[in-house]
Amino acid sequence: MRKKIVAGNWKMNKNLAETKALLSELKTKLTGSTDAEIIVAPTFTNLHSAIEVLEDSAITVAAQNMHQAKNGAFTGEISADMLKSIEVKTVILGHSERRAYFGETDKLLAEKVNAALEHNMTVIFCFGEELQDRKSNNHFSVVENQLKNGLFHISSGDWKNVILAYEPVWAIGTGETASPEQAQEMHAFIRKTISEAYDQQIADEVSILYGGSVKPNNAEEIFAKSDVDGGLIGGAALDTESFAAIVEAI
Ligand code: PGA
Repeated sequence: MRKKIVAGNWKMNKNLAETKALLSELKTKLTGSTDAEIIVAPTFTNLHSAIEVLEDSAITVAAQNMHQAKNGAFTGEISADMLKSIEVKTVILGHSERRAYFGETDKLLAEKVNAALEHNMTVIFCFGEELQDRKSNNHFSVVENQLKNGLFHISSGDWKNVILAYEPVWAIGTGETASPEQAQEMHAFIRKTISEAYDQQIADEVSILYGGSVKPNNAEEIFAKSDVDGGLIGGAALDTESFAAIVEAI
């Protein structure tokens, strides 16, 4: 049985005091409330404190990005080893904002994936089409290419450390959500693509999250779809009540 997961991508929000306050509330609110895996991804500067606050809870902490090199002259960057040294074992890679605003290509992402997997980290690999891709009916091929070019070089054994997050760019932060049917259709396509490139067992076991304007009022119907295993939540993850409501919807 594949895992149900709700992950909160906090993006560039919350200073240290705000991070600690939100995490303390989440810890109280969510303890024992679900069997799903809960992940939060605060900013780099607050990861260490997040680990400390969540020490005795089931909520785990992820980074929002990571550099592909082991170490070296890369001013401003953070390595896998640095993350592991503060007990961060999960990293979000390939978010559409990283692709769009920071020029991250499939090739670069493939290198980041390798660095994370070599450090035995779990990768939440994000991908998804833009509005014009969907309008021109190219959304399936765009998604297939993102997967093939950024991820499908990994070995069969590495899939146990991969979580997928399908996030149509047109639905991120826009209030416009893919319909549950659109999400299901794409998630089923993703599983089929994996089964063709690898095998059915890997396709069946990988958790595929949906992301893009998931809110308390739409989470339940999206999560109810058979190939949707949870969500990657942006805006609604910044508030205790709304994140808890989404977790409860799974
Ligand atoms: P959103 O963001 O929930 O605010 O649309 C989702 C994401 O970017 O992961």
